[in-house]
Amino acid sequence: MPMHFQAQDLEDQLSRLFEAAGSQAAEARTVAANLVLANLSGHDSHGVGMAPRYIDAICEGGLTPNTAVQVRTDHGMLLGLDGRQGFGQIVGSQAMGMAMDKVRQHGACIYTLSHAHHLGRIGHFAEMAVERGLISLHFVNVRSRPVVAAWHGGDGRYGTNPCCIGIPMGLGEARREPFVLDFATSRVAQGKMRVAHNLGKSVEPGTLIDEYGQATTRPGVVVVPQSNGRYGALMPFGEHKGFGLAVACELLGGALSGGGTWHHEANDKRAVYNGMLGIVIDPQALGVAESFSAEALAFADWLKASPDAPGTDGVHLAGEPERQARKDRRAQGIEVDDNTWAEIVASGAKVGLKI
Ligand SMILES: NC(=O)c1ccc[n+]([C@@H]2O[C@H](COP(=O)([O-])OP(=O)(O)OC[C@H]3O[C@@H](n4cnc5c(N)ncnc54)[C@H](O)[C@@H]3O)[C@@H](O)[C@H]2O)c1
Repeated sequence: MPMHFQAQDLEDQLSRLFEAAGSQAAEARTVAANLVLANLSGHDSHGVGMAPRYIDAICEGGLTPNTAVQVRTDHGMLLGLDGRQGFGQIVGSQAMGMAMDKVRQHGACIYTLSHAHHLGRIGHFAEMAVERGLISLHFVNVRSRPVVAAWHGGDGRYGTNPCCIGIPMGLGEARREPFVLDFATSRVAQGKMRVAHNLGKSVEPGTLIDEYGQATTRPGVVVVPQSNGRYGALMPFGEHKGFGLAVACELLGGALSGGGTWHHEANDKRAVYNGMLGIVIDPQALGVAESFSAEALAFADWLKASPDAPGTDGVHLAGEPERQARKDRRAQGIEVDDNTWAEIVASGAKVGLKI
């Protein structure tokens, strides 16, 4: 039977877990709140189920609690930052804070962040920007076991390289909820395969190949080693175009940031590193704030006026599903499957905490 939690209870439990693993109280609380917000947003793949992996990474020395982002280069509106294997939720937010300070001075900021441990839901950083009326673009690579096949390739060669674009919608009284597009460049996020595998579910055809490069619907092929000791792979989204965007994320998030790209065999280390290129823009500084607002709203209205396609609930803009999920899950609670909860309890035991 899956467990049900109110968000606050889950956050409290996770916070204790990260403190037991060595985080100071404020860090533990921030990371816990970030993971629970991912669950609330409907992205269980990036929620509390990640905690056991974080604890393993701390125990292995690949994730260093209580680490702050370091400035490597600072050239006006350009910032080069090093996450120094700190919690992505911490160094990623610090990086966004610095970038937004730069935007105040220069109207825009281009920053890179290398060596962050897992940044979690990338939309979190775009949400920080759109709240302040800023546009935010993110290209991210993932250094961990390579789980995504190149277009027309037969094994995993790179990570689920997420891409995210946040755009504030409307100004002042006309302000509406923002557009927040935030997705893995694989057909689905790897964590969703972990969740499906834990629930014993199969996934849509076209999502996965097995350890021999053959199509399969079994999510376990990317979660546990298969008969020949190898894993299967996720397919890229959007065929050759999605694959191209994933490569761009690797080049911009990995090579340009200094964090590095993935080009070697997998190891069994538990740490997951993200590199990110972030671009933050103030529409006011471009002198188009009014027209940008009016045009953005007019386009959104035009899209929404489209008749519903048969069998669908009509047109939605990116960000809406997450906001709806937050409303629903705040009211109904968050469901955590048995396997995920057992993994969380076991990781508590690893750091001397009884959950
Ligand atoms: N840190 C990492 O290494 C890493 C790696 C991969 C993914 N992620 C995160 O995983 C999360 C989930 O990614 P995903 O690819 O599974 O997401 P997804 O496939 O659920 O797509 C989510 C995006 O699509 C939008 N969307 C969903 N339904 C829609 C509809 N009907 N109409 C219009 N827009 C719609 C959502 O608002 C959101 O912007 C993201 O937050 C991503 O940042 C992180």
